Amino acid sequence: MSKIIVAIDGYSSCGKSTIAKALAKYAGYTYVDTGAMYRAIALYTLRNNLTETADIIAALPQIEVGFVLVNGAQHVTLNGEDVEGLVRTLEVGNRASQVSQIKEVRAFLVAQQQKMGDAKGIVMDGRDIGTVVFPKAELKLFLTASPEVRAQRRYDELVAKGEKPNYDEVLADVNDRDYRDTHRAESPLRQAEDAIVVDNSHMTPDEQMEVIYGLFDKILNQKS
Ligand code: DC
Repeated sequence: MSKIIVAIDGYSSCGKSTIAKALAKYAGYTYVDTGAMYRAIALYTLRNNLTETADIIAALPQIEVGFVLVNGAQHVTLNGEDVEGLVRTLEVGNRASQVSQIKEVRAFLVAQQQKMGDAKGIVMDGRDIGTVVFPKAELKLFLTASPEVRAQRRYDELVAKGEKPNYDEVLADVNDRDYRDTHRAESPLRQAEDAIVVDNSHMTPDEQMEVIYGLFDKILNQKS
């Protein structure tokens, strides 16, 4: 059966990665979390005290971002080190939002992401997947949920990790990040014209996946 590329874009904390992972499992496809790649670069800049854009660009040849499978789960690596547990903090997320505004950083990662899609059979999530990385993806989803719902989800995630977040700060962070992601000069987050919008503010995870599996099956049936 022929394979397709699924591009999933949307705001932070709207469940992109959960959906993308579930769909990849359903389809037997590879899942790629591109946010983790920006987070790995952000971690590198934090560890090496790189704040100037020119210094970050100059460091790119020394940075290798990859993935390893650990007990069936995908972990992001930075120069061979599994940094999955280190990149999921608010600090790294905020830095990722900043480094992702640098044109050269985007070009560096987009080239790797496009290579990963050579053989198709991939579900990739991010902010620019349907618009820049795979403008010809057969299925494009644009996920959205209200900022309050997303802040609550992120708050719950941080609590589950043992952090002690403040809800108002988390909400402010969600709004700041939305603003930066949608207003940056380079590849701002926007819905591809041919993307299907899924607002999951009031959907259960099961309801949402039923809709998404249906969309995937429909496209695959049209192709075969
Ligand atoms: O999805 P995430 O929260 O892990 O992403 C972290 C940051 O990386 C986010 O602020 C936006 C940026 N990003 C991006 O610019 N392009 C992508 N394809 C993925 C993430």
